[in-house]
Amino acid sequence: MSVVSTEINNDIAVIIIDNPPVNALSHAVREGVSRAFVDVEARDDVRAIILCCAGRTFCAGADISEFGKPPKSPSLPELIDQMDKINIPLIAAIHGTALGGGFELALCCHYRILEASAKVGLPEVNLGLIPGAGGTQRLPRLIGVSQALDMITSGKPVSAEKTLALKIADRISQNNLKQNAITFAEEIIKNKQPAKRVSDLDIKDNSEVFDIFAKKIAARTRGFLAPAAAIEAVKAATTLSFKEGLMVEREQFIKLVEGAQSKAQCHLFFAEREAAKVPGIDKNTAVYDIGQVAVIGGGIMGCGIAVSFLNKMFPVTLLEISPDACGAARQKITNIYDSSVKKGRITEDQKEKMLAGLILTCEYDDIANADLVIEAVFEKMEIKKQVFEKLDSVMKPTAILATNTSFLDINEIASVTSRPQNVLGLHFFSPAHIMPLLEIVRTDHTSNETLATALKLAKMVGKTAVISGVCYGFIANRMSSCYGREAGLLLLEGADVEQVDRVLYEFGMPMGMFTMLDMAGIDIGVMAREKLGPELYDQRAFAIHTALVKDGNKGQKTGAGFYVYDGGQKSLNPMVTELAKIFADAFQITRRTISDKEIEERCIFALINEGFKIVEEGIALRASDVDVVYTSAFGFPRYKGGPLFYAEQIGLDYVVRKINEFAKMHGERWWKPSNLMIKLATK
Ligand code: 3HC
Repeated sequence: MSVVSTEINNDIAVIIIDNPPVNALSHAVREGVSRAFVDVEARDDVRAIILCCAGRTFCAGADISEFGKPPKSPSLPELIDQMDKINIPLIAAIHGTALGGGFELALCCHYRILEASAKVGLPEVNLGLIPGAGGTQRLPRLIGVSQALDMITSGKPVSAEKTLALKIADRISQNNLKQNAITFAEEIIKNKQPAKRVSDLDIKDNSEVFDIFAKKIAARTRGFLAPAAAIEAVKAATTLSFKEGLMVEREQFIKLVEGAQSKAQCHLFFAEREAAKVPGIDKNTAVYDIGQVAVIGGGIMGCGIAVSFLNKMFPVTLLEISPDACGAARQKITNIYDSSVKKGRITEDQKEKMLAGLILTCEYDDIANADLVIEAVFEKMEIKKQVFEKLDSVMKPTAILATNTSFLDINEIASVTSRPQNVLGLHFFSPAHIMPLLEIVRTDHTSNETLATALKLAKMVGKTAVISGVCYGFIANRMSSCYGREAGLLLLEGADVEQVDRVLYEFGMPMGMFTMLDMAGIDIGVMAREKLGPELYDQRAFAIHTALVKDGNKGQKTGAGFYVYDGGQKSLNPMVTELAKIFADAFQITRRTISDKEIEERCIFALINEGFKIVEEGIALRASDVDVVYTSAFGFPRYKGGPLFYAEQIGLDYVVRKINEFAKMHGERWWKPSNLMIKLATK
């Protein structure tokens, strides 16, 4: 069956794209649409053309899987150029999401009608690209430079309601989009409305706007090439002719699409979708209905988890130990919503609706009917086991029992219940209502149905799900502890806190290791390590941390940690340098000058090596899952694609060689290269 068909309705032609799942503009679609336009134009009875899509959405953009392959004519710019020459009124009828090239197709039409729930956007920056089929030239002509820059550099789609205000949409359809589009076309014919080309609109703006805008987004887009290229292309729209502007856009697009950042970001796009695919689970796997959710514990994590569900209108019952603790939890959750209202993310009315779903209780009986319970109590095995024994006795037999533990053995937690098949880890990252990642931890007994339900839930609450097996720290925290270990050892060996932080920040991490520890609280890690046997971590690496905390220096919250915080000023804590010297002596470590390159490689290659071991042991299902985890949980630069993708880009053989060198210098205890990495490097 052809992916493009045409229906003739009296003097109106309706061209329909049908390329499931998201009507991506593959070569077959472009060819089909191009031919359909030629055929329709050849008829003398057609006086208006509607372009629309079958299935769940209007075109979601260029076919990303075609990037990097030899181009096939007609390209999207060629197709759009063909459309721009059509003199018959062209109407785009949009439902779902018109994204990227799909929105560019609609922008080339003369009129746009949108279903009330539809959205449009140019998300190319998320793939390390800029719009490459006229979006940077048409959108500013239609809605002005500032709004266009916002949409193009943020990649965020806008609602149908907003498109009407911006004059992107000419009309909104409340129901039956196709029929309403036909009625609209009939009016256009009757009123003899012209073919209104966006490319004919005037545009001007001064260069100051671009400089101000570039400064405004500098921190948010640090390291990414696409936003600056987008600004360049939009600027060209204001200084050059439409045709010349298109050439600037093309040049920038090609440079980006052939570059490393776009390849890395496209890798993550597919990796995030692949992560939700689990062998043994398919559309035939039964999924439990989740209506009511319960959360145990009203600390920062418990409250953030509750908000994640309340945001999606799940009723949530939060259990705490006393009425006072219940009151404090309600206050925390209210504060989160107040802050969202203040930032303009939600309205007061939405806040009230979401909060209306929250019940606080001290009684286990009040949560007995919940379909899912997530435990977020103190990170201690004995306490978790007590909670799970209690949950097992009160919850209905079909309920899923989840723990938010960051490190503990969930097989052991599940063993105290009579339904280990219903037990799993749902590991959120702080702040839980904001961070995109959800590590779903499968135990030896978690059933496929429980897992499938968790995967569906993750999608419902807008989280990227990755499956992890049980091991100490699962994927994210296990990798992170290796990264932290090397940063700590480097201090003893002669690097200073600022150097390590600067190198990691320049690599593209959102902040350096020690800035992060100061922000999160150094005491959290120190407390967690107190419960560990010496075989699980390198005491030398964290000796400074422990000494700082012992002296009351827990980070920002106490005014001092690795840095000293004085009235908004941050400076190195001199105590750290002293401690580094003392511990270096105690552990017989010779202090030396350490290069930036060594700091980067020690920290990043430790991550990579552990990531490959996690795949090798079957803890992660695939290497790309590790990339998804580390970019989503700890801000590894998306334009580098995640630690394991990055390792491949710089050469696995190089990484293995360096790890072997580190093993010679620092011993094999932490630096034994992963067998999987060695195997892949020699392929
Ligand atoms: N190309 C190829 N495949 C695509 C695709 C695209 N543009 N968009 C989605 N898909 C695939 C996904 O990989 C997934 O495949 P799978 O089922 O085999 O895993 C399938 O379509 C369904 O996608 P989702 O699971 O993401 O479905 P959702 O319903 O959750 O989301 C969506 C739908 C909002 C359209 C989301 O898929 C999305 O954001 N897609 C990307 C949109 C985009 O970035 N467009 C710009 C492309 S670049 C471009 O157009 C350049 C131009 O300017 C020249």
